[in-house]
Amino acid sequence: MIDIHSHILYGVDDGSESLEMSLEMLRLSEASGVSDIIATPHVNRKGIVPDWAELQERREELQRAADKARIEITIHLGAEVELNGATMDLLQKCTETREYCLADSRYVLIELTNQTRPSIAENMLNTLQLRGYWPVLAHIERFPQLLEEPDQLLSWIRRGVLCQCNAGSFTGEFGPKVKERVRTLYRNGVIHLLGSDGHRTAFRTTDMREAREELARLAHKEQRQDLWQSATANADQILWDRVCYPEVPDHWQPQKRGLLSRLFG
Ligand SMILES: [Fe+2]
Repeated sequence: MIDIHSHILYGVDDGSESLEMSLEMLRLSEASGVSDIIATPHVNRKGIVPDWAELQERREELQRAADKARIEITIHLGAEVELNGATMDLLQKCTETREYCLADSRYVLIELTNQTRPSIAENMLNTLQLRGYWPVLAHIERFPQLLEEPDQLLSWIRRGVLCQCNAGSFTGEFGPKVKERVRTLYRNGVIHLLGSDGHRTAFRTTDMREAREELARLAHKEQRQDLWQSATANADQILWDRVCYPEVPDHWQPQKRGLLSRLFG
């Protein structure tokens, strides 16, 4: 398994707080069956842009410590870049160097916000693609507006935008509504990549064991491909900087209304 979204580097954002915590997070990843993890610190959140050279040094330090602790995981560098005007300026300067991209590839992990209007996001995503980036949208299950306009999401995917969801969303870690949403996205086959989005060791962790079991159960129940496997295959394409051509569904199956949404709307 390749975890493409994690806050494993310590002291660079709201993720890991120390080298020890980072190592403990890596041990949880290893126990989940992760062989490669991409560190994706927040970039451009509240205007803060961590220096790329410093992030590279922190990655190297953590890899050395992991090797010493005999944790068999390769750590790659990436970023989770909030999408706004400042991001467009930042990434314009990095088109050649691929700074802030995932593992030296052309893929860039993009975080939408609840303030992001889909029409504005669409323009920005198009511009990024014209500059040679391959956008991956982070944890799309957190944005109800994307499910309100699934045709728009499908049109983005048709044009090569990939979608990532958090493994913990399948186990209800982010609440029942997010769980319902992520299942709808799964049923529609629009989740291409998985990540832990792990921040700590006690909550929002890098431990994906429960999610892995839940995904196997879900694949059996829904008679669909196990997302754990397909997401790993797609993440491998990122590490090789190869294009992914996911299938795009021709129609959208609306959300099955669970007891909670039937009761509370
Ligand atoms: Fe994140």
